[in-house]
Amino acid sequence: MARVLLGVTGSVAAIRAPELAHALVAAGHEVQMMATASALRFFDPLALPNNAPLYTDADEWRFPRSPDGRWSRDDAVLHIELRAWAELLLLAPLDAHSLGKLALGLSDNLLTCVFRAWEHPRPVVLAPAMNTLMWESPQTARHLRALLEDHGVEGAALPTARRPEPYLAHFGGPSCPHMQLVGPVEKRLACGDFGVGGMSSVPELVEAVARALSASPAQARPASTLSSKD
Ligand SMILES: Cc1cc2nc3c(=O)[nH]c(=O)nc-3n(C[C@H](O)[C@H](O)[C@H](O)COP(=O)(O)O)c2cc1C
Repeated sequence: MARVLLGVTGSVAAIRAPELAHALVAAGHEVQMMATASALRFFDPLALPNNAPLYTDADEWRFPRSPDGRWSRDDAVLHIELRAWAELLLLAPLDAHSLGKLALGLSDNLLTCVFRAWEHPRPVVLAPAMNTLMWESPQTARHLRALLEDHGVEGAALPTARRPEPYLAHFGGPSCPHMQLVGPVEKRLACGDFGVGGMSSVPELVEAVARALSASPAQARPASTLSSKD
């Protein structure tokens, strides 16, 4: 049982965001959510659990104390508050575009700012979901390699392949224990193609969260709290 921050990006698998949020709450977690603008095209926020507040990029720039809408000293910085609150970050689904941004360190929205500001080794679980050819693109391999390199896998241990498979086992491995990657799985995708690229199932994701929490040292998890969205 932990404070789980669920980030949702613009893959078609985001239609399962409400189901995933309900499953995390049912598993006993406290859940807060953030979604990219594209993710919001795939699910109805009203279908989320009442106790799992959803933040968007608009919330990042909402400063209710200011008549002109500008940030004033002592206003909250939402991505830092969420980072401070969360014991685990779950990005599900993680689409190709946001994966690329994480790998490059780009942080132009709430979700990527949280990732960039994340305090490692607090656990992170990534659940990629994309078309098979997107997944098999050398760009995916390059982005996975960059994430591993940033998070502890170095030198001869770091694969140089142009396909994603050789990188997968390193996530959650001895050099990168705090960053897990779940899936993607092979299936008939929403676009009609058959192949690897589907998001792992909701029970698999809940199980991955439990595994990542049990593997993470207690001192890596913060005690701080953030009040839920009012
Ligand atoms: C109907 C539809 C389905 C999409 N599904 C996926 C997907 O499963 N995986 C993916 O990587 N991109 C998918 N995309 C593309 C992303 O939505 C697009 O790259 C977007 O810019 C991602 O932005 P974000 O990462 O900020 O959410 C889809 C786009 C559309 C219109």
